[in-house]
Parts: sequence; C-alpha cells; structure tokens
Amino acid sequence: MAPNDPMTEQRPVTQTAAIKITLPDAQTVTSVRHYTDRLFAFRVTRPASLRFRSGEFVMIGLMGDNGKPLLRAYSIASPAWDEELEFYSIKVPDGPLTSKLQHIRPGDQIILRPKPVGTLVHDAILPGKRLYFFSTGTGIAPFASLLREPETYERFDEVILTHTCRDVAELTYGRELVESLADDPLIGEMVGGKLRYYPTTTREDSPRMGRITTLIENGQLFEDLGVPPLNPETDRAMVCGSLAFNIDIKALLEMAGLEEGANSDPRQFVVEKAFVGDGV
Ligand code: FAD
Ligand code: A2P
Repeated sequence: MAPNDPMTEQRPVTQTAAIKITLPDAQTVTSVRHYTDRLFAFRVTRPASLRFRSGEFVMIGLMGDNGKPLLRAYSIASPAWDEELEFYSIKVPDGPLTSKLQHIRPGDQIILRPKPVGTLVHDAILPGKRLYFFSTGTGIAPFASLLREPETYERFDEVILTHTCRDVAELTYGRELVESLADDPLIGEMVGGKLRYYPTTTREDSPRMGRITTLIENGQLFEDLGVPPLNPETDRAMVCGSLAFNIDIKALLEMAGLEEGANSDPRQFVVEKAFVGDGV
C-alpha cells in the first residue's frame, strides 16, 4: 500500500526504524481473485482475538474520501477454524464501497470491525436429518463458511447446497469450493457422500435451469435429488439471497410446515439477507 494512503500513516524515520501507525481494526489483504466483472473473492489476515461462529457476518470497509470509515456488512466465507478470513463480494459499479474495494491487491489494508453476528448459525436450527443451504448470488458466502465447518457434517446425514445465479460463470466460486472439499485435509472425509450440490442458472443455458423456488414448487428439486419433499420432522434449511428471494422461499418453507428460528429460539429454518435494497 502506498505510504500516503489514508489507511496507513508513516512517520519520519527515527534512530531505529520507521514507525508505522495503522488504524485500529486494519487487516492486510493476502490474496484476491476475480471471477466475473460482477464478482470477486479475497482473503485477509485474521485478528488474533477474533472468534466467530461459521456463517456469521462482520462489518468491513475502507476509509472514505471524507476520512471516515466506509463500512458494509459482509458474511465471512471462511470457516471458524481458518487462520485467515475470506470474503466473496459483488462489484456494484457506482457502489460507495465496492467501486473501490474491487481494486484491492495483496498487501493493501481493509478495515474489519471484529464484532461477528448473524442468524445463519448452527445454534439457531434444531437437529435434523437433512440440511438445505438455499442461496442466490453472493448469498452463497455464509454457506462457503458452513460447508467447511465440521459441525455441519456432525449434525446432519445429508447436506444440500442450492445456488442459483443468472449465468454459468457466476457459479464458479461455489462449484470450485464444493470440488475442493473432497480433498480438504480437515473435513474431506466427513464430507464424503453427505454433500449434494444443486446449481441452477436463470439467464444462460446450463444443465439445470430455473429459479430454485420454481423447482421446489414443481417438485423437480426433490425428483432430481431423489429425496422426499420438505418435511418439518427431518428437514432444516438456511436461506441467503436477495430480499425478494428470501420472502419467496420463506413462504414455501412455511407452507411445508417448517418454522423460522433465531439464535435465542432454534427451529427448522433461518434466513438472512445477502444485501439490502433490491427494490422490494
Ligand atoms: P451499496 O450502496 O451497499 O449497494 C448498492 C446496491 O447494490 C444495493 O441497493 C443493491 O441493489 C446492490 N447490491 C449490494 N450488495 C449486493 C450483493 N451482494 N449482490 C447483489 N447486489 C447487491 N455483499 C457481498 O458482496 N458479499 C457478502 O458476503 C455480503 N454479506 C452481507 C451480509 C449482510 C447481513 C448484509 C445486510 C449485506 C451483505 N452484503 C454482502 C452487501 C454489502 O453489505 C454491500 O451492500 C455491498 O458490498 C455493496 O456495497 P456498496 O457500498 O458498493 O453499495
Ligand atoms: P432471475 O434471473 O429470474 O431474476 P441477482 O443476480 O439479481 O441477485 O439474482 C440472482 C439469482 O436469483 C438469479 O438467478 C435470479 O433469477 C434469482 N432470483 C431473484 N429473485 C428471485 C426470487 N424472488 N425467487 C427465486 N429466485 C430469484
């Protein structure tokens, strides 16, 4: 990062060494990967004191032009045991944060407020047989964490990840993550045979087309996977996508008899917005 960057102030060299004063809560970017012109992922150093539950989100950001931190909510996409933190991000062309954040490079610093919260956590759902992760777009981020969390496979016999995006390229992050799990030294053996991956696209041809809500309504999802329809006795679900998606899928889950839970009141499903403001 350049010496004059607003996030890193450098003082004149003293007798011993330059004193580098870093903002509180600054973390260093260790890697960045761009997937499409709308999506990228990056990893940053993890504060030694940060404890979180897989699936939670934190506030991250950069210094704004006005000299104040510009922060947004981000799901931590890495699991609680990882020594670094991973994030999966949208690029909003005129977005106050992501128009800048999309240009970060290894060595740059971001601000990370170490106060994790969220409802997409194991504590908020009751034990069951089958756990569904229903996601659209960057809503896969909390599940990228939970898919690498041993508790997910300890608590459930079957884990089903659905990810719906506009086009095939937007599925890449999730597909590569799922493919990597089998060889993961920590959880590879636990995942074996338990994880089912169900990607769909809505605006480009792919082997499975359609909104997941439609595929639930017409029964195609269950037919393709060879599992019974949603059942409150056996099935649990976590949902993360746009507000419109969350509302629609919540209605389907409730119609099937599942009840929404919370940290203080675990039940059959939990929901969290992947972002705010989609015109609904
Ligand atoms: P903003 O002013 O925040 O947003 C501008 C517009 O861009 C919004 O009105 C919306 O229409 C659209 N938009 C914003 N975020 C998204 C998105 N993720 N996908 C599609 N359209 C979007 N964003 C991530 O990229 N990754 C995450 O893991 C993530 N986790 C979140 C968790 C929670 C609980 C919440 C509430 C939001 C989360 N977001 C996430 C959204 C994030 O907080 C910002 O909105 C996003 O980074 C864009 O910031 P911005 O300042 O550039 O634009
Ligand atoms: P569609 O292309 O039919 O709108 P986005 O990139 O706009 O956040 O959307 C991500 C994916 O979520 C798209 O495939 C989109 O389908 C789908 N989607 C958006 N709204 C809903 C909804 N209410 N129910 C189900 N899927 C939705």
